Amino acid sequence: RYEITQRQASAQILPGVQTPLWTYNGTFPGPTIESRRGRPVTVTHHNRLPVPTVVHLHGGRTPAASDGYPTDLVLPEGWQEAGHGMGHGGHGMQGMRDPRAVRSRLTRDYTFPLDQRPTLLWYHDHRMDFTAPAIWRGLAGLHIVRDDAEEALGLPSGRRELPLVIADRAFAADGSLAYPALDPALRARPGVRDPYLAGVLGDVILVNGAPWPLHEADAARYRLRVLNASNARHYELEAVLDDGRRLDLVQVGADQGLLAAPVAHRSLPIAPAERYDVVVDFAKVPVGGRVRIVNRLGSGRTRDVMAFRVVRKAADHSRVPRVLSRDLPEWRRSDAVRVRDFSFRAGRMHGGHGWLIGGLPFDPARTDVTARLGDVEVWRLVADVHHPVHLHLVGFRVLSRGGRAPLPHDAGLKDTVSLRPGESAEIITRFDGYRGRYLFHCHNAEHEDMGMMANLEII
Ligand code: C2O
Ligand code: CU
Ligand code: CU
Repeated sequence: RYEITQRQASAQILPGVQTPLWTYNGTFPGPTIESRRGRPVTVTHHNRLPVPTVVHLHGGRTPAASDGYPTDLVLPEGWQEAGHGMGHGGHGMQGMRDPRAVRSRLTRDYTFPLDQRPTLLWYHDHRMDFTAPAIWRGLAGLHIVRDDAEEALGLPSGRRELPLVIADRAFAADGSLAYPALDPALRARPGVRDPYLAGVLGDVILVNGAPWPLHEADAARYRLRVLNASNARHYELEAVLDDGRRLDLVQVGADQGLLAAPVAHRSLPIAPAERYDVVVDFAKVPVGGRVRIVNRLGSGRTRDVMAFRVVRKAADHSRVPRVLSRDLPEWRRSDAVRVRDFSFRAGRMHGGHGWLIGGLPFDPARTDVTARLGDVEVWRLVADVHHPVHLHLVGFRVLSRGGRAPLPHDAGLKDTVSLRPGESAEIITRFDGYRGRYLFHCHNAEHEDMGMMANLEII
């Protein structure tokens, strides 16, 4: 049982200035919750922010009532729905709200059965039309699910298991967060981009809330549990030594937990909302040496993410077993009772630009997909530009990409698949868990707010 108060707080993120934030319990990112598989957790959220909020546990196998549907609001104290414009945070589409779909209260209990594979989940705001600016202001945190089987593997743990929440932000001179969507001057700054095309990009890279941190490490294996919590920025991560050599990123897990077997990468692309569980071995680094975590897709300062300095030799009893898990679902194409097609493309909506799924912007009053509990389905997804597509409730496997075999980083059970520009992919899943109303959407947070979301009803 946890209590979280959503409130305004400030933190020193950049040297010498305070940054006002929206927080869970005053911290940025929010407090990390650690749970055991199958042990239910209730999180009570109180809203002391100036606007309504919604909490979603990303990657959670959660009953619909606690899944954070975008109109299931936690109202702030003193808030009355009538008479309040929704223009607090962003650039949403005012015309499409269906008041009948709105159920609201001041405090909300979210109940998570956590009957699922152990993995790194994250919780974040999910209010309709305003998710992107709310996450930007700080409403995101980690929720780690563990179990005995995973712990028995002997992967690096304790000090040598590090969650890395990577997120870009832009700051004004006084230290306050600048959301380029609302600030025309910022759109011209190098590294910061206009939201209507690509989503909002910042020019400062934060890891666990700190800009470009330097972490002191032992000459030993580390387990890095990486989350791309950026609104829109894509990364392709590498671990580069001072002499230019690269360390392998040995992937042991994906969004939805352990792989069957480790996969070594030289570089690892990570789209918004994706998680990669990787082991890096600093034993190969001389004491005093540095390992920079670099984003190959960045330029200038956004090329750097963080660095490790190896400060001492140390014993290392960790290992990366050749078999990591045996419970990965292996659905076959022939198991699927249905194949559905979805396009993720720009289009016109409400007289402006929007991002559409199958030609339509999100409408809470419309059911886009009705799936039967227990059915296996294949979904064919096609994109115009980069779209990381996320399904609530279920994990899926990537069956194909661009008509070919999936890429090495598509391994394992995913809940977000990164479609590259012009690319198609097929995913396969079983609608398993709970009946009710869920979502699928693009996890470029600005795209999501600008319509690229749809309802998935499980019956
Ligand atoms: Cu990170 Cu609808 O989710
Ligand atoms: Cu989600
Ligand atoms: Cu998108």
